[in-house]
Amino acid sequence: MDFSKATILITGGNSGIGRGVAEALASRGAKVIITGRNAATLAETIAANPTMLGYELDVTNADNVSSFATRVTADHPDLNAVIHNAGIMVIEDVLAEPYNLEIVDRTISTNLLAPIRLTTALLPHLRNKKEAAIVTVSSGLAFVPRTNALTYSASKAAIHSWTQSLRHELRNTNITVVEIAPPLVATDLTPGQSANPQAMPLKAFVSEAVELLCSDETPQEVLVQRVLPQRTAEQTGNFGKVFGMINPS
Ligand SMILES: NC(=O)c1ccc[n+]([C@@H]2O[C@H](COP(=O)([O-])OP(=O)(O)OC[C@H]3O[C@@H](n4cnc5c(N)ncnc54)[C@H](OP(=O)(O)O)[C@@H]3O)[C@@H](O)[C@H]2O)c1
Repeated sequence: MDFSKATILITGGNSGIGRGVAEALASRGAKVIITGRNAATLAETIAANPTMLGYELDVTNADNVSSFATRVTADHPDLNAVIHNAGIMVIEDVLAEPYNLEIVDRTISTNLLAPIRLTTALLPHLRNKKEAAIVTVSSGLAFVPRTNALTYSASKAAIHSWTQSLRHELRNTNITVVEIAPPLVATDLTPGQSANPQAMPLKAFVSEAVELLCSDETPQEVLVQRVLPQRTAEQTGNFGKVFGMINPS
């Protein structure tokens, strides 16, 4: 799949990793369409990148997602790739009484249900293209969880599993399925994260990840060097060690 020649829809393209990837792909020649909830940052991103197109979309609203898919494919019949980047991460206290189930609902709805719903809505359109791609964004935490972000970690493990199944189910079609699994990256995903010295700088992550995504042979998983200890923790027998580093006792 040549992403530099594709028309790519990126959810959450108004901030952090989504914006970085959108700008990098646009600079390689792709036509990029972004969505965001926040109208101000969406407008600001489009103003800074006049070749991009923007749509407001809250991905947790199932009806909106369905009507959005109809609208965006009518507006851009050449659309042939989607990157399901929009996501949230909320730290939870499982011992709180009551435990906040609203966070659980919102996290599963944003990180898991939304990509599934949008994929389903776009699939008939994508199947009619010569070549197409569906890209999910999981996390290193899909492979070794962060225990105080238990629903987030579970949602990312679930999207990893779903992506594996989708890839196999679409193996005889025109559609390539890719998973991007970022490590900790300096964005505003959680409060203070963009200033965390342990986080991979956003620019470095975007540059390495987009280089991998645009390789001659499209990888099934986009894994920057920093995420490999998490991604391979089970196979290398290092799960306990990495778990302990992420979740100090
Ligand atoms: N940063 C990391 O360390 C890291 C690590 C692994 C995986 N990831 C994943 O990478 C993706 C991007 O995260 P990020 O780090 O770039 O964080 P970010 O800067 O907070 O970006 C998150 C994006 O998701 C959008 N979004 C959230 N809820 C939405 C909703 N209900 N409807 C529509 N858009 C929504 C936000 O849009 P608005 O601003 O308009 O709300 C924003 O554009 C996420 O899937 C995240 O889980 C990040």
